[in-house]
Order: sequence, then structure tokens, then C-alpha cells
Amino acid sequence: MEKDILICNCNEIYKSEIVKAIKEKGLKTVEEVGDATTAGTICGQCQDDIQDILDELNK
Ligand code: FES
Repeated sequence: MEKDILICNCNEIYKSEIVKAIKEKGLKTVEEVGDATTAGTICGQCQDDIQDILDELNK
């Protein structure tokens, strides 16, 4: 299994949580991930990484 990585330092959100939310709720945008998990809602630096995860899952 892939090692879990910390994506959002501000809110301590790990990749597994983001992946789970995207799959369960069918999220399509960084904003939706922010609403669902709070990831990316403070400094915004992790938003590119969130977009990469979205691209990976929704391609
Ligand atoms: S690292 Fe995610 S909002 Fe700052």
C-alpha cells in the first residue's frame, strides 16, 4: 500500500482523507475538497497537490 502523505500542513489533512472524500462524495474541484475536508482553505499552498489528486482520480 502506498504510504500516506501529509498534503495540507495547515489543517493536517493526509492524502488518504482527501482521496476518501473525493471518492465518497464525487468531488471535482479544489474548492469542493476544501469544503469537505478543510484542506487548502488556509494558506492555499497545498492546492496544487489537491488538484493533482483530483486529476489522478477523475481522469
Ligand atoms: S497547507 Fe493546506 S492550506 Fe496551508
